[in-house]
Amino acid sequence: MLYRQIPSSGEDLPILGMGCMRLPQTPEGRIDEEAAIALIRAAIDGGAVYIDTAWPYHDGESERVVGRALADGYRERAFLATKLPSWEVESREDMDRFLDEQLRRLDTDRLDVYLVHALTRQRWDKLVDLGIETFLDDAKADGRIRYAGFSFHDDAGTFREIVDAYAWDLCQIQYNYLDEHYQAGTGGLDYAAEKGLAVVVMEPLRGGMLAAPPEEIRTIFDAARIRRSPAAWGLRWIWDRPGVTTVLSGMNAAEQLAGNLAAADKGLPASLTREEHETIDRVRDVFREKIRVPCTACRYCMPCPSGVNIPECFAQLNNAAMGDEKFARLFYGGMPGDGHASLCVKCGACEQICPQGIRVMDALDEVAAFFGQ
Ligand SMILES: NC(=O)c1ccc[n+]([C@@H]2O[C@H](COP(=O)([O-])OP(=O)(O)OC[C@H]3O[C@@H](n4cnc5c(N)ncnc54)[C@H](OP(=O)(O)O)[C@@H]3O)[C@@H](O)[C@H]2O)c1
Repeated sequence: MLYRQIPSSGEDLPILGMGCMRLPQTPEGRIDEEAAIALIRAAIDGGAVYIDTAWPYHDGESERVVGRALADGYRERAFLATKLPSWEVESREDMDRFLDEQLRRLDTDRLDVYLVHALTRQRWDKLVDLGIETFLDDAKADGRIRYAGFSFHDDAGTFREIVDAYAWDLCQIQYNYLDEHYQAGTGGLDYAAEKGLAVVVMEPLRGGMLAAPPEEIRTIFDAARIRRSPAAWGLRWIWDRPGVTTVLSGMNAAEQLAGNLAAADKGLPASLTREEHETIDRVRDVFREKIRVPCTACRYCMPCPSGVNIPECFAQLNNAAMGDEKFARLFYGGMPGDGHASLCVKCGACEQICPQGIRVMDALDEVAAFFGQ
């Protein structure tokens, strides 16, 4: 494993970490606990010791399962991160209450990093009024957290303001070769790194889309001089930037972990050639042409009060646009739970929470029109 440092302390972090938002699941959609625990422990054994979870992941079960995975001596070897659910906080007392409950769920008395989750300008302004800064200072001072950070989903200007507003150790941003100029983007990444924050990347493969590209893109990768899986291309593009500290991938199978660990062995800064960058540039152009809805299937919009399976609706529309229309129609028709786009009653709850800012209701209209239900 290669390491990069947290600037505020000089502590080493591995360049690959394990995201626990997409753990292996049973056919009923619950976490497959045995498989998840084995995978988290395998990640730690392989050196990917940064373990990232959050209050809402897997309907609150991710933290509990991570806690169980970290028994038997794994807690001491892990760098454990979870997040304050910023949208649920109404008072300073709530901040302490969530943190204490999360420590219980995770069966630990200390977090390596506590991030304020999914910040937007509105949420940040509200949290400042409620005393977030003294809360973080106090939680560090009393030993419940070692480092303070935030994860982010708003525009680049807001990102810089939040970077400057507090003595953060770390930030977590969405970053991949399709999102160079989206949200914090490359400018924000470099800014945070210059200001001495560790930069942790989420959604490096855009929730899996970059790991399973359409045929046209595979052809471009196949023509490259160097052989690499689409996932490895995506990860290497991120590690190429010196400002990046750790890349979290939401791996849910042993083969994915093995592939990403192998890619990490070569993830040095500025290690891609001009020719390799040109390959990614061509791939990016094709993706941009084809994607209909920029959904990353983070599932923050779920459950939909009307029963629409929003991420699956968008996945199938995108699959059809990527050239897999026959299978997309088959999967859409047989979607578990019958969550078709036509069930949408336009309550708008999804649009309040979507970190990608997708106009979900319009996009669901497009899905319903395309698939006819
Ligand atoms: N703070 C926030 O606001 C926030 C938001 C989003 C995510 N996060 C955190 O960041 C973590 C990483 O984001 P992410 O889960 O979106 O990561 P990601 O790496 O972009 O997507 C994970 C998906 O990529 C696919 N994948 C990964 N490695 C692969 C490989 N070697 N070969 C083939 N497919 C591969 C899998 O898709 P399939 O399942 O289709 O196989 C996997 O589920 C999350 O797990 C979570 O901990 C935080």
